[in-house]
Amino acid sequence: MSAASPNADAKRLETARRAAEEAGRLARRFFENREALLIETKGPQDLVSAADREVEELIRGEIARDFPDDRVLGEEFGTGGAGDNEAGGDGATGWVVDPIDGTQNFLRGIPQFVVSIAYREDGVARVGVIHDPNAGETFWATAGGGAFRNGTAIRVTGAAWLEEAVVGIGHSPRHAPEIFNRTVTALIEAGAQTRNYCCAAIQLAYVADGRLDATWDPYLLDWDVAAGMLIVREAGGDGVPFVPGRKGPHADTLIAGTPGLLEQFRSRTRMFDD
Ligand code: IPD
Ligand code: CA
Ligand code: CA
Repeated sequence: MSAASPNADAKRLETARRAAEEAGRLARRFFENREALLIETKGPQDLVSAADREVEELIRGEIARDFPDDRVLGEEFGTGGAGDNEAGGDGATGWVVDPIDGTQNFLRGIPQFVVSIAYREDGVARVGVIHDPNAGETFWATAGGGAFRNGTAIRVTGAAWLEEAVVGIGHSPRHAPEIFNRTVTALIEAGAQTRNYCCAAIQLAYVADGRLDATWDPYLLDWDVAAGMLIVREAGGDGVPFVPGRKGPHADTLIAGTPGLLEQFRSRTRMFDD
């Protein structure tokens, strides 16, 4: 059986959903007792705790149980010793895991964080799962198999104009404030509404489910988007190709949304002028 067959995708989807839901239960337990967590700083406004690491370990264990030969790239443990970024980037094959996306929300007691798990074959996403343990929602997709929320098929909206759009936004202290200011000003001047959930993966899931029309963030990492971009595409949306490493060691700009909005985004925000 080829690793990229629908049958293999279905098996990996089953593993990814089980792992994400188990991970969500563990994350919720940490969340309810977060006063006990020691918070460490990875960089400016970039926090981490034992919760992120233990949740990633749980996911790695679930994957290894079903697919012991598969590679895993995770935010907290990298490739787990298999060589730098082997599962990431173009042409890569393996799992891509963000154990808790929305860590800052998590550590502040804001119940807006998710588990994100993807599997890629030769750089192409085959399986994507995003689980929100607080809302009890799991979003998933397989390549060519459509996108779902808790078993119900989901679609992006038909929004074609920024004037009618609600657009997710994000920012990081790692990029110039001018990029954020210029883009958000252009969106507001065009008549769009904006939302920042501080959780890139949930913003992608919301685009796929028609809760947002598009989402933009000028600095994201592979594990923030690997699952969500597949879910958006399988829900009828699209995105600019996300290429880790284009703007920094592993970072790139994300724009995903309805096909009609993407062209407007490009021309009206001058997003690619920098
Ligand atoms: C962060 C979130 C946030 C985005 C940041 C990411 P983390 O991921 O996705 O929305 O704006 O750039 O680092 O650290 O919570 O996994
Ligand atoms: Ca993340
Ligand atoms: Ca994370």
